[in-house]
Amino acid sequence: MTVRYPLTSIEDLRLVAKQRLPKLFYDFVDSGSWTQSTYRANEQDFERILLRQRVGRDVRERLLQTHLLGQKASMPIVIAPTGGAGFLYPDAEIAAARAAASAGISYGLSVGSSCSLEAVRAASNADIWFQVSLFKDRLFLKRLIERARNAECGALILTLDYHVVGQRHCDLKNGVGFPPRITPRLLADVATHPRWILRMARARHRGFGNVIGHVEGVTDIKSFGRWQASQPFDLNLDWEALRVIRDAWLASC
Ligand SMILES: Cc1cc2nc3c(=O)[nH]c(=O)nc-3n(C[C@H](O)[C@H](O)[C@H](O)COP(=O)(O)O)c2cc1C
Repeated sequence: MTVRYPLTSIEDLRLVAKQRLPKLFYDFVDSGSWTQSTYRANEQDFERILLRQRVGRDVRERLLQTHLLGQKASMPIVIAPTGGAGFLYPDAEIAAARAAASAGISYGLSVGSSCSLEAVRAASNADIWFQVSLFKDRLFLKRLIERARNAECGALILTLDYHVVGQRHCDLKNGVGFPPRITPRLLADVATHPRWILRMARARHRGFGNVIGHVEGVTDIKSFGRWQASQPFDLNLDWEALRVIRDAWLASC
C-alpha cells in the first residue's frame, strides 16, 4: 500500500517503516512472540479506551496536561523503552528523547539502547525514565542505577516480563542475533534498502552503549551476543529483588 503525504497517523508511520526498513528490522518491531496473541490483545485493549466527550463548554483552551510520577507532562503519555531502536534509525534514542522533550513528555530509555544514557543526557534535556532488568551481575546493575542518577533520570523502570523471553518466530527465521546470521537473503534484504544504509552511515552510536564497556568481558557486539545468550537476567525476580533495586535507587540519591 502506498503512503500518501503528509503523514497523519500511526498507521502511516507503520507503512513508511515497512517501506524503508530491511524486513529483518521491520519484523523485529512489528511482531510478538509465539502466536502474537498478546500483541493483538494490547492493541485491542487500547481500542477499548475512549475519551470522554463533553459538549456545551468553553473549548477555547484545551489542555491534556497532568503530572506523572511528580513530573509535569503535557499529556498523559510516556514513550515506552524500546531496545535496538538504534538499528532502525541513526542515534534513535537521542532523536526520540529530543522529540519527547519538545512535546513535554517523559522518555523511557531502554538499557538495550544504542546510545548510552550519558550520550542521551548530553544531547537532550528530556525527563528520562531509565529502564533496567534484574541482572545477575549486581555490580553492573548497581552501577547502571548510579549512572542513571548521575544522568539525572527522573525515574527507574523495572521490566518484569523479559526475564524469560518468548520465542519470536520472525526473528528466528530472519536470523536476528548479535551478530546477525549472515545469509544471502539477509544480504539481499539489506542491499535493497539503500536509503536505510545511507541514513545509518550517519550514526555516531552503534552497538549497546549501556552495556558494552560496562560489563566485564563485553567489549564489542560479538561479546555482547555471548553475554546475552548466557542469560544475564536473574530469574528469581521476587519482591526481595525489587527491594534491592529500590534501595540502590534511593541510596544513589
Ligand atoms: C521493538 C520493541 C523493543 C522493545 N524493547 C524494550 C526494552 O528494551 N525494554 C522494555 O522494558 N520494554 C521493551 N519493549 C516493550 C515496550 O516498552 C512496551 O512495553 C510494549 O511495546 C507494550 O506497549 P505497546 O502496546 O504500546 O507497544 C519493546 C517493545 C518493542 C515493540
